[in-house]
Amino acid sequence: MLLQVNNVSKSYAGAQSSICAVNNVSLQISKGEFVAVQGPSGCGKSTLLLIAGALLKPDSGVVLVDGQDPYALNPDTRAGFRARTIGFVFQQFHLVPYLSVLDNVLAPALAVPGNAAETRDRALQLIERFGLSDRSQHVPAKLSTGERQRAAMARALLNQPKLILADEPTGNLDHQNADALLGYLAEFAIGGGTVLLVTHDDRAVAHAKRVIHLQHGEVAEPIVS
Ligand SMILES: Nc1ncnc2c1ncn2[C@@H]1O[C@H](COP(=O)(O)OP(=O)(O)OP(=O)(O)O)[C@@H](O)[C@H]1O
Ligand SMILES: [Mg+2]
Repeated sequence: MLLQVNNVSKSYAGAQSSICAVNNVSLQISKGEFVAVQGPSGCGKSTLLLIAGALLKPDSGVVLVDGQDPYALNPDTRAGFRARTIGFVFQQFHLVPYLSVLDNVLAPALAVPGNAAETRDRALQLIERFGLSDRSQHVPAKLSTGERQRAAMARALLNQPKLILADEPTGNLDHQNADALLGYLAEFAIGGGTVLLVTHDDRAVAHAKRVIHLQHGEVAEPIVS
């Protein structure tokens, strides 16, 4: 198993009462699987992805990524583990506003020492692959939303992670760009990478081996296609 989420729950403090965003969720995702998560707005999809991505500690339950419980690590070690192992595409992208596309895509390399020239070549290849070559020196504010989304995907792939977690990664893309991105993720999975996507996009679901349905923070009946 590349990703195991065991009996995970997470509540957020609310003004009146706490909100249970994820309620006793368990998932197992094997290496090389391409899995989609679907469910209505507010059902806990982004929260679950953050928990799986070592970015949000659950209140209870255990997460294992490539056999490691990231929340058992101290914050610095966890950040290094995350940078090497997980590529995360946030629903709101979270690009660094004062960095160019190239520097945003290169940012994850800061946490993983490597050959600077090779890393830069890889960044430029990803930028080209996602059709952003003529935007590589632009800051995010000068990009369209879909261009930002593609930059966020390129950044997630820079460190050649084992697991890609992406939150609605085709939500702002036209058909052609969405197909290109999904094709890339499908290749990534064929090459042994593992993909977990939150998506409402039928084309993304078509690539998925399995769809996990969330409802009110809980896993509903999984559909195997
Ligand atoms: N930081 C937070 N503080 C308080 N409540 C939050 C926080 N983040 C999310 N929530 C609440 O937790 C629930 C689940 O939110 P989440 O963002 O995981 O849903 P989602 O399924 O990703 O929705 P969408 O499809 O709209 O992106 C919602 O009721 C939301 O209001
Ligand atoms: Mg969300």
